Amino acid sequence: MAASSFKLAILGALFLLLLPLTTSALSSHYYSKSCPKLFKVVRPVMVKAIQKQARNGASILRLFFHDCFVNGCDASLLLDDTPTFTGEKTSRANNNSARGFDIIDDIKNAVEQACPGVVSCADILAIASLYSVQILGGPTWKLKLGRLDARTASLELANANLPPPFLDLDGLNKAFKKVGLSQKDMVVLSGGHTIGLARCISFRNHIYNDTDIDPKFAANRQKTCPRSGGDNNLAPLDTKSPRIFDNYYYKNLVRNRGLLHSDQAIYNGVDTDDLVLKYSKDECAFFEDFGKSMIKMGNIKPVDGTPLEIRKNCRVVN
Ligand code: HEM
Ligand SMILES: *[C@@H]1O[C@H](CO)[C@@H](O)[C@H](O)[C@H]1NC(C)=O
Ligand SMILES: *[C@@H]1O[C@H](CO)[C@@H](O)[C@H](O)[C@H]1NC(C)=O
Repeated sequence: MAASSFKLAILGALFLLLLPLTTSALSSHYYSKSCPKLFKVVRPVMVKAIQKQARNGASILRLFFHDCFVNGCDASLLLDDTPTFTGEKTSRANNNSARGFDIIDDIKNAVEQACPGVVSCADILAIASLYSVQILGGPTWKLKLGRLDARTASLELANANLPPPFLDLDGLNKAFKKVGLSQKDMVVLSGGHTIGLARCISFRNHIYNDTDIDPKFAANRQKTCPRSGGDNNLAPLDTKSPRIFDNYYYKNLVRNRGLLHSDQAIYNGVDTDDLVLKYSKDECAFFEDFGKSMIKMGNIKPVDGTPLEIRKNCRVVN
């Protein structure tokens, strides 16, 4: 009798210990007791990174997207490869492309100083993305926190889930549907391409071969993106205002000035033309919907059974 109630107590204690490490609904004030200074610690690091280079904000936003699309927002993308572990950093969409990991390190270090061991890298990515958009002039939304960091990552899933730039509307829809997001979410979140840069290799085919492109714009882009060579030469995704989070991404599309094939694919005589046109005219509507879809994307959860923790260093499991 005594022994079994002892066992029960141990089980109970174990259960309580593990309880915070299971996924539950995210909340708006998750760290208000455990790390009240969290936002005050994160924001200035992001401000400094963006002052150094506006593109840094874009790169962080993209990291969040690439994390959330691969088994949920669990910071799996942040894990470094080791001789015995292959993560997501060398997947097709990320290799020689994903950047900003050093900024996440800076934020994590500052947060660990303020409140050691309580804030996940996955939440840091969510907070840093919000501030990136906000600092570059975009909208704010209500952050939901309480994500945990995976002890695993998947190169295969990263290759399967991260949409390549040669997709058409149908392929884009499928990629978003796979993670529970709608066509509208896809059109709204593509507006993230109002900031940041792309490599020649990502848009070469579009500027030389596609017909749904303004010839003057194509000629301009061709100047720094030759038919062969110069794969890593950069061009702004939004030619007009690459360092400002505004609705010029959509205004460009309406004039056939999307940089990627996948950008123009949402405005070339398709279902989504109307929504693109609306956002091109109504920045407020874009901002409001962008916040909503960011919350939705940020809610994508790792599958049940994924081992989770709060990492001490975002690049390695504890
Ligand atoms: C709809 C499907 C999408 C496709 C096919 C796509 C594809 C790409 C490609 C090819 C690049 C350039 C990468 C390079 O050349 O190195 C890029 C950059 C970028 N993407 Fe996307 N993307 C998509 C959706 C999104 C979403 C949903 C977001 C965020 C909400 C986003 C944010 C960004 C940002 C900010 C950059 C610039 C990053 C930097 O300058 O470092 N993208 N994307
Ligand atoms: C990633 O890029 C590096 C450097 O260009 C290259 O050597 C490597 O083969 C690439 N890895 C993959 C998996 O494509
Ligand atoms: C244009 O398309 C052709 C035929 O698909 C292809 O062989 C060629 O490499 C493409 N050119 C560029 C610059 O992408």
